[in-house]
Amino acid sequence: MKNSKVKLPIGVFDSGIGGISVLAEILKLLSHEEFIYFADTLHSPYGIKPENIVQSLSIKAAEFLSLLGIKSLVIACNTATSAAISNIRKMHTFPVIGMEPAVKLAVDLKPKGKIIVMATPLTLKSKKFNELISHYTHLAEIILMPCAGLVEIIEQDYSDRRKIENYLASLFSSREKKDISVVVLGCTHYILIKEEIMKILGGEIHVIDGNYGTAKQLRTVLQNECLLNNTVIEKPCLPLKAQVKFYISGNGNGVEARCKQLLQQEGIICE
Ligand code: DGL
Repeated sequence: MKNSKVKLPIGVFDSGIGGISVLAEILKLLSHEEFIYFADTLHSPYGIKPENIVQSLSIKAAEFLSLLGIKSLVIACNTATSAAISNIRKMHTFPVIGMEPAVKLAVDLKPKGKIIVMATPLTLKSKKFNELISHYTHLAEIILMPCAGLVEIIEQDYSDRRKIENYLASLFSSREKKDISVVVLGCTHYILIKEEIMKILGGEIHVIDGNYGTAKQLRTVLQNECLLNNTVIEKPCLPLKAQVKFYISGNGNGVEARCKQLLQQEGIICE
């Protein structure tokens, strides 16, 4: 039976442009859907703020999207998910999908060396994340790498590759790269600089994220709730035409244009 909400858009939010990495993955699976992307740029970064502040900002972002009329919500931010997903789920009837660092995926690779989890300080401190890794610490050596300041560089100096490379070089300077097997990108912003991270690490180390898993989970949930619009695309045919409406908190300052540019780099054109 068709759900009457099937034609409604899917809401996606992040503290800024990071969630675009998730949206790109989702669009490759669900290009027939409409999306509303909310970047809470005014309050970015979330990851160095106290948990109760991030919780209330995330609840407000979800409320904002809910009032626009959405059939499902993707919290395209590990930090907001860890701080607020359970509250947001209690407040809304639509399905809410969140993000978490892909630690299970990393452990499943059966690495011989260490697993490094790069994430915001708040994600790594959160109860939710600590519960998650407690299931895996007996299976692998997991090192937490809080990256305070990196989201700000990605938000403000995205085109300054030198600045990004210097930050990453100092982050990994005290680590023996030969001891690392997998690096988990536990913040959606870091996926936007995956190439730079891989360059610093060299070829042997797996660099993974949870974006594809999140996109698949969203598709499954929409299918189960009879909320899926039209055809399910298995193999994306690029360039894709996407229907995305953007909302940016604060003065925006070219954020929408950057979001569109990032999608375009993935072969996705916003109509
Ligand atoms: N993109 C967000 C995440 O995945 C974090 C950004 C921030 O610190 O604002 O955690």
